[in-house]
Amino acid sequence: MNNAKLYKSKKGLQQADATHVIENFSKYLKWKDHKETILDVGSGDGHTLCEVLLPKIADKVDRVIGTDNSNEMLEYARGEYGCQQIVFEKLNIECTDVPEKFQEKFDHIFSFFCLHWVVKQSIAFQNIYTMLKPDGEILLTFLAKNPIYDIYEEMAKTEKWAKYKKDYKKYLSPYHNSPDPEDEVRTILNKVGFHVKVCRSDRRCYTYPNLATVNASVKAVNPFLPNIPEEEHESYFEDYDNIMKKNKDIIWEKVNNNVDDGKFHCFYEIIIVVASKGF
Ligand SMILES: C[S@@+](CC[C@H](N)C(=O)[O-])C[C@H]1O[C@@H](n2cnc3c(N)ncnc32)[C@H](O)[C@@H]1O
Repeated sequence: MNNAKLYKSKKGLQQADATHVIENFSKYLKWKDHKETILDVGSGDGHTLCEVLLPKIADKVDRVIGTDNSNEMLEYARGEYGCQQIVFEKLNIECTDVPEKFQEKFDHIFSFFCLHWVVKQSIAFQNIYTMLKPDGEILLTFLAKNPIYDIYEEMAKTEKWAKYKKDYKKYLSPYHNSPDPEDEVRTILNKVGFHVKVCRSDRRCYTYPNLATVNASVKAVNPFLPNIPEEEHESYFEDYDNIMKKNKDIIWEKVNNNVDDGKFHCFYEIIIVVASKGF
């Protein structure tokens, strides 16, 4: 996902959850007496970092590094939010060697809606651990399960779309088909050496007013569209809509006493982690 402008305009779900997590889980973090240096993993368009997180902790930090592995996202974030205090740097959180300039440099590391894109989960968590100062802490949230992944899977099994979705599994959250995402994440965190304060999988609901809004949001994060020729996009979304409508009773649960109100209520699960390097 590289289109920062499109992503920024359609990220209602991500913004609502980042706000929820920051408002309800920052209380578990211990802040230092001095002004801190913090890092955000997968900062994307920079909006969550600079307009949701920073206003809440502005008095506690004096240096902020947003990181991402997409040049387009970095360029956009720099243009919107870059300044002396806030810089955006390239970092693939799955890399095998964390650059020395990032090692043990951060008091707090945050990440919102990035880590479900990462296949090598243990490496990502190990890298985050490496970048923390010895007494550093993390606050992370990412998707565990989402009905959109079921649609990706169903389309990947059709003759028409399979050729564009050969590697679809790497675009599902690593926990989408897990019987216990919370336990899996906690196990990795413990293995890496984190002291886990919070590791939970929360069921959330986001309501889209209509199908067109669902599609616009999905378009902003859909990893397959760049591989599908432009002239096939309309057909792709037609098939996508048909699967969604067919599955609506199963994966998009009706609310309001089971009355179909025409809206799309997306039920999904997010993982929330608060952990520290030391005790
Ligand atoms: C859904 S966006 C989230 C952006 C922002 N944190 C927010 O809350 O809106 C996910 C971001 O993670 C980035 N990303 C995906 N895989 C990554 C990786 N391996 N290393 C670093 N960033 C990655 C993407 O480029 C994208 O900008």
